Amino acid sequence: MLTKIHHVGIVVRSADAALAFYRDTLGLPLTADAVIEDQGVRGVLLRCGPNEIELLEPTRDDTGVARFLAARGEGMHHVCFESTDVAADLAAAREKGLQLIDQAPRRGLAGMICFLHPKSAHGVLVEYATPVPEGHA
Ligand code: CO
Repeated sequence: MLTKIHHVGIVVRSADAALAFYRDTLGLPLTADAVIEDQGVRGVLLRCGPNEIELLEPTRDDTGVARFLAARGEGMHHVCFESTDVAADLAAAREKGLQLIDQAPRRGLAGMICFLHPKSAHGVLVEYATPVPEGHA
């Protein structure tokens, strides 16, 4: 079951430069900052009430985030829904015939995550995430 918008993902050229805006100017507190090696990104989470902003800075050139940045520049990348059970919600999406990017949940900055293809979501990359207590990869 999807329970709320967990975060909005934003691709940035430099997480440090983006923190000058989101943390220092807007005043949002930082809740996680980690390099996820297998995804080639530095992910930074900032809290705003019950929701978060996720900054994604590519650390290599051969990733989807790097290609997004090269093709479109900085900007909104995905919307993440919090799920009570990411495996069950992914299975439900598959049964409904939605196009998936991930066939199984995997570890991400927000917990256990998966992505649905924008073609099944009216042009928006959709993430599901089930936070885990030690959730930050
Ligand atoms: Co995300």
